Amino acid sequence: MELLSSYQLGSLNLKNRMVMAPMTRNRAGRGNSPQPINALYYGQRAGAGLIITEAAQVSPQGLGYPDMPGIYSPEQISGWRLVTDLVHSRGGLIFLQLFHCGRISHPSLQPERAAPVAPSAIKPEGEAWTYKGSRPFATPRALETTEIPGIVDQFHSGAEKALAAGFDGVEIHAANGYLLDQFIRDGTNQRTDTYGGTVENRARLLFEVTEAVVDVWGAGRVGVHISPGNPFNDIQDSNPELIFSHVTDGLNRFHLAYLHVVEIDLTNPTDFNAALNPITQKLRKIYKGTYMTNGGYDRESAERVLKVGDADLVSFGRLFLANPDLPERFAKNGPLIEPNTATFYGGDERGYTDYPFLDSEE
Ligand SMILES: Cc1cc2nc3c(=O)[nH]c(=O)nc-3n(C[C@H](O)[C@H](O)[C@H](O)COP(=O)(O)O)c2cc1C
Repeated sequence: MELLSSYQLGSLNLKNRMVMAPMTRNRAGRGNSPQPINALYYGQRAGAGLIITEAAQVSPQGLGYPDMPGIYSPEQISGWRLVTDLVHSRGGLIFLQLFHCGRISHPSLQPERAAPVAPSAIKPEGEAWTYKGSRPFATPRALETTEIPGIVDQFHSGAEKALAAGFDGVEIHAANGYLLDQFIRDGTNQRTDTYGGTVENRARLLFEVTEAVVDVWGAGRVGVHISPGNPFNDIQDSNPELIFSHVTDGLNRFHLAYLHVVEIDLTNPTDFNAALNPITQKLRKIYKGTYMTNGGYDRESAERVLKVGDADLVSFGRLFLANPDLPERFAKNGPLIEPNTATFYGGDERGYTDYPFLDSEE
């Protein structure tokens, strides 16, 4: 199978083309620091060609949900060290996902109960998830132009700390309706300064962040995550093809490790139509580097997308969550465990580190 063949990602040799997609699991400990149980979870999945961690906020302001692990304190660096050491000792490779939630937060999660920040003061539809359960979203505060370099600095600092924590690279989270995606799309960005309006202006923050992160890591160790067709977190754009073509073309100049694209609508639990969507078929042609596709893939559809040359790597979320030895299960065409959605976000080892290995079933 092509999926199980190795892939040279810059200077990194991936043992297969199966990437573990980033998944927030809300099981960090005190101080939003990773714990031994989090290391065990990732260590169990070291058979992936590459693991991308759950989103890690680059500052306290970047926190969007309870118990997410951050990447801004010395304690967090030590916590992530547990993760990277265990994954490496089991022959795996692991990138950290750098994240800022923007408006998808709540004052109760923010330092000094401040309003979450965003490109514009536009409240998302729906509810935030707080330590006291669901609460209506608050209207965010629009960032001043003078504050934007501080956001770039947060990502730069997160990238430095990821390096100190022993990761193999980082992924910039510009997908799924969080801060960088909020700047990209005109439904959430109604700024009149140089970060709003034209496609050039709306992509500016992502490019500045990418430059800052590449400055720390070198281009071959940095990926970018986008989701052009995904309305998750009440995000929309009047012309996604136009803005994402500009974004994709602009990313070419960085010679990144990869572009990672969510193909599906994450708000639709039945969207398992695994193939490139109409917009991303065009982006694939624009992008000159390694293209990683994501969303609803299984063994057959993933193999097909590689065979026809639509992608170089495939990332699997829910399947890796529930099948820690997914590459082995694919190799043996073994049975797959269904993920338990009730234990996706928060809780203990149940539905986290207790999914069985094929060995233990045989
Ligand atoms: C429990 C869970 C948490 C997720 N957290 C993140 C995240 O932190 N960052 C991110 O970019 N995507 C996140 N996603 C989206 C996944 O990376 C992926 O896009 C999605 O699950 C679709 O892929 P799949 O069909 O292979 O599961 C999450 C998905 C799930 C199921």
